[in-house]
Amino acid sequence: MMQDRKTLRRQIRLRRRSLTARQQRHAAQSLCRNLRSHLWFRQAQHIALYLPNDGEIDTSPLIKLCRSLGKQLYLPVLHPIRHNRLWFTPYDTDTPMRRNCYRILEPVLQGQPRRPAHALDLVLMPLVAFSADGGRMGMGGGYYDRSFAFKLRAKALKGPRLIGLAHDFQRQPQLPLEPWDVPLDGVATDSRIYRISC
Ligand SMILES: Nc1ncnc2c1ncn2[C@@H]1O[C@H](COP(=O)(O)OP(=O)(O)OP(=O)(O)O)[C@@H](O)[C@H]1O
Ligand SMILES: [Mg+2]
Repeated sequence: MMQDRKTLRRQIRLRRRSLTARQQRHAAQSLCRNLRSHLWFRQAQHIALYLPNDGEIDTSPLIKLCRSLGKQLYLPVLHPIRHNRLWFTPYDTDTPMRRNCYRILEPVLQGQPRRPAHALDLVLMPLVAFSADGGRMGMGGGYYDRSFAFKLRAKALKGPRLIGLAHDFQRQPQLPLEPWDVPLDGVATDSRIYRISC
């Protein structure tokens, strides 16, 4: 029987947080190695990612790599008015940062040019659990689902590729998906790339 979402979230988050700094470092380096040669990464110029929290797989090797390749990075910022959506703002070495209500570091909004979600090339998103068929379970806020809901409505329209980043143990044989859940195009882990859409 499938576990309910709450129990599953709690178990995986616990395991994620219990990784040592050394395990996290190795996982992050392996993830970066796995993703760097992938066509979706190589072709992307405008890339959104996240700063890790709660044991999420670390993006710092990827951030370094992207900067050395001249790619433009973006971080999600909680939308100041429409609270349940994400804005994507440029993330450079000198971007002023602050902690948001979840204590996650995000760029301070000071009128910098935002990039609409549909105009990103690649979105590397955190997740709690994934399935190899593109199912994604997040932290339960629905932020990513709302921000990329347009991908459900207009499959033919080009939008960013959505790739989940995770520790390989976050994979589940199946996930209970809801109608609003936006499926992933792929998942990159410390072990491999799961390619879902072509
Ligand atoms: N497109 C949408 N429009 C309105 N409400 C939505 C939409 N997508 C998700 N929600 C709401 O958000 C809530 C949380 O959704 P869900 O449990 O799928 O979060 P999640 O995928 O774990 O979170 P996140 O997207 O932040 O990683 C749900 O109760 C759902 O009603
Ligand atoms: Mg969801």
